[in-house]
Amino acid sequence: MADNKQTENRHAAFKKQQRKEQLKNLLDILGAGSKLAMFALLGAILLGVTYTLTYKRIQQNEIEAVQRNLQAVLADDRYDNDPYADRTRVEPSELLGSDEPATVYRARLNGKPAAAVFRSVAPNGYNGAIKLLVGVYANGDVSGVRVVAHKETPGLGDGIDERKSDWIFSFTGTSLDSLGDKGWAVKKDGGQFDQFTGATITPRAIVQAVRNTLQYYQENEKRIFE
Ligand SMILES: Cc1cc2nc3c(=O)[nH]c(=O)nc-3n(C[C@H](O)[C@H](O)[C@H](O)COP(=O)(O)O)c2cc1C
Repeated sequence: MADNKQTENRHAAFKKQQRKEQLKNLLDILGAGSKLAMFALLGAILLGVTYTLTYKRIQQNEIEAVQRNLQAVLADDRYDNDPYADRTRVEPSELLGSDEPATVYRARLNGKPAAAVFRSVAPNGYNGAIKLLVGVYANGDVSGVRVVAHKETPGLGDGIDERKSDWIFSFTGTSLDSLGDKGWAVKKDGGQFDQFTGATITPRAIVQAVRNTLQYYQENEKRIFE
């Protein structure tokens, strides 16, 4: 009888110890889980903050590039207003390369339309979209083109940057009529514009985008200056 009682007590003590250990294990797991969740949350917050800061920095760089280059694509004596202040947004158009509304800076001389500078996009660069400023005088001549943002390969496609080569200046003074349909292509495709050694895709994309912008200007000239 006494043996039985002793065995029962030992069994009860063992069960109690087992339950204690199970509870401890559960608390350990919950503790580790919440620590993991905390780290995940912290990581997500950090990622979000970094993304926002980077995105804002990129936007700011673009705005600075636009402000710097607006004057570069317009001859001083051709306008007397502030084109940056006189900007407008136009409906998305395939000819301007984006499904977002595009900004157009309007230059005027004595109140009359002098030039429109488009924030166009060449959507088919080698590494994605290339953002451009394309200036067009009221008579349809290109006043100048500059690259505002791109991800083309250094040493191959980045000759489009005016700090790397003179290539982007080859558009100045051209027009739809002066080059004709055939001329608006890289030399490799039978046109007037040089390609780069081992890199045809980038210049091809920009030639197409500038030509499209001129087309857009021709079709929408009146509306832009309203
Ligand atoms: C890693 C790598 C990066 C490249 N980057 C560019 C680039 O930025 N722009 C470009 O036009 N071609 C680039 N190319 C070359 C293109 O793949 C292509 O060969 C070249 O543009 C010639 O095109 P085409 O055959 O249409 O004339 C790159 C190739 C490689 C392997």
